[in-house]
Amino acid sequence: MDQLQLRKFRDSDIERLVTLANNKNVSRYLIDTFPYPYTPEDARLWLQTGHQQNKSVNYAITFDGELIGIIGIKPNRGWKSHLAEIGYWTGEPYWNKGYASWALNEMTSHAFNELKIKKLYAPVFEANHASMRVLEKCAYYREGVLNLEVFKDGNYHNIHYFAKINPDGNN
Ligand SMILES: CC(C)(COP(=O)(O)OP(=O)(O)OC[C@H]1O[C@@H](n2cnc3c(N)ncnc32)[C@H](O)[C@@H]1OP(=O)(O)O)[C@@H](O)C(=O)NCCC(=O)NCCS
Repeated sequence: MDQLQLRKFRDSDIERLVTLANNKNVSRYLIDTFPYPYTPEDARLWLQTGHQQNKSVNYAITFDGELIGIIGIKPNRGWKSHLAEIGYWTGEPYWNKGYASWALNEMTSHAFNELKIKKLYAPVFEANHASMRVLEKCAYYREGVLNLEVFKDGNYHNIHYFAKINPDGNN
């Protein structure tokens, strides 16, 4: 896993972003604001401002310096500002090589140790077994299931909430 890194975005990531993100197999289980088709304009907006919207912290997952996916957290607000949602995707040519699991472990440590988040949570479509496996491998636990929680692509979907609590206390 030596070639893997989390790094800040670069303008030059635009091409890789479009190539990898413009794939229904990637967008299928992502939030409905993730576009499909995914255009160069979508990538440009993401690289300019999108990755920091609502105080989100996102990084490029890279292999030998090249973007292969994205991982990030979106902190909640007010009395829930100790919580953050974590989300990620990797490009289809890179699936099942352990890369998302590596990135999730890295980002979880960063969120707990540097960003001082108390609890991370991930909403997962019921059919997204690969993502559930990634979360389990990184010692996230299933907190519960919300039935018919989202409507996407013409269907209602149950959402499984996975979470991990910062072991570093309560302050
Ligand atoms: C989910 C996703 C991030 C996984 O990325 P990845 O880089 O392939 O993840 P890893 O290689 O670290 O781990 C995948 C694990 O899922 C397992 N897996 C893959 N497909 C599976 C399936 N259909 N059913 C059960 N397990 C599956 C793999 O075998 C592997 O587990 P293992 O290491 O025990 O063999 C990637 O498929 C993706 O980006 N999907 C689209 C976007 C998405 O769903 N994001 C997550 C939203 S919650």
